[in-house]
Amino acid sequence: PPLEDLLNLDDIEEAATKQISRKAWAYYFSASDDLATKSHNNTAYRQILLRPRIFRDCTHCSTATTLLGHNVNVPIYVAPAAMARLAHPDGEAGIAAACARFGAVQVVSNNASQTPEQIVAAAEPGQVFGWQLYVQTERSKSEAMLARIAKLPAYKFLVLTLDAPVPGKREHDERSKNIGANLPIRSSVQEGSASTTSPDPEAASAKEIPAPTGGVGKALFAGTAPDLTWATTLPWLEKHTTLPIVLKGVQTHEDAYIASRHPQIKAIVLSNHGGRAMDTAPPAVHTLLEIRKYCPDVFDRVEVWVDGGIKRGTDVVKALCLGAKAVGVGRAALYGLGAGGKEGVERVLEILKAETETAMRLLGVERIEELGLQHVSVDVT
Ligand code: FNR
Repeated sequence: PPLEDLLNLDDIEEAATKQISRKAWAYYFSASDDLATKSHNNTAYRQILLRPRIFRDCTHCSTATTLLGHNVNVPIYVAPAAMARLAHPDGEAGIAAACARFGAVQVVSNNASQTPEQIVAAAEPGQVFGWQLYVQTERSKSEAMLARIAKLPAYKFLVLTLDAPVPGKREHDERSKNIGANLPIRSSVQEGSASTTSPDPEAASAKEIPAPTGGVGKALFAGTAPDLTWATTLPWLEKHTTLPIVLKGVQTHEDAYIASRHPQIKAIVLSNHGGRAMDTAPPAVHTLLEIRKYCPDVFDRVEVWVDGGIKRGTDVVKALCLGAKAVGVGRAALYGLGAGGKEGVERVLEILKAETETAMRLLGVERIEELGLQHVSVDVT
């Protein structure tokens, strides 16, 4: 169907499912164990009710806000998700072009299927990217990557993912191991520093990695360090980057509190990796509520971003009402690519932006900063 006939994110997912390979679908769709957290991520939003106010002028409505001090047109960013070229040859650079059109931030995965240089090559002036890091057991590989990122001014912050020191048990992905011989593409971390000299996307795609025995996820995680700690990793990282640091994968108020006391940490992402790490881990909404209850000053010290299960503008608005500064979408961007390349990602952002505006107007709100606890019926005491 034409993209304009895809009216919501479920339509996009359905269209993508028909168009991408079974292996790509299994990798993107999969989550750990019984998919309990994956499904809860979304239903947690459905369980929260909104409190619309009446007699409010909503003629002018703006979704503009800031992220780490950068102006953005939407409080929605693309979360780091590996291997976009499994969905469409436009890949991460296609996502970048869609983000440029919507004034949205893109966080590029450590396991992107194009190089960090290729992805920002066509960036608009002022377009904001983050780089996501999986620290490698061979630290020199991560250090080389950080040095590369330092040379690319479009990357304004670093996202350190901590919720998956090992990948979860993703059975859809594992079952797809026999489909297709090889992955058609390599991740930037597997290319290592050698690919600095390869500005050509076709050159990157020409290299292949062997068929993974435990699914795509396990193959990509090979080499990722499981020994990171507060005491050792942050000092190491500070030596190798001057970028603001964002910690991704915070799932408890205790860790949110600790993170907020580290001056070099500017934001945290409440995330359970889209249900792909610990199954039955809490959805971000629950962690938001925990922080509100036990250590609300976290919201004053760091920006709190959330991801997981965002499907509707009302989901975006609810997260913001509870204190999130922005929400990330992972699978939706990949499915958008699968449904229609760069234009498919644009359609995803267009739908989410329009739905967010409608939700704001129906609440009686014209600006993002007005959204607050008064608009949701949850007990935060
Ligand atoms: C991810 N995610 C992820 N996170 C990360 O920090 N580095 C990565 O390389 C990846 N790769 C990845 C691949 C795929 C296929 C998915 C679906 C997810 C997790 C991602 O950033 C985000 O936390 C979730 O995708 C958010 O949940 P939704 O929006 O997919 O429900």
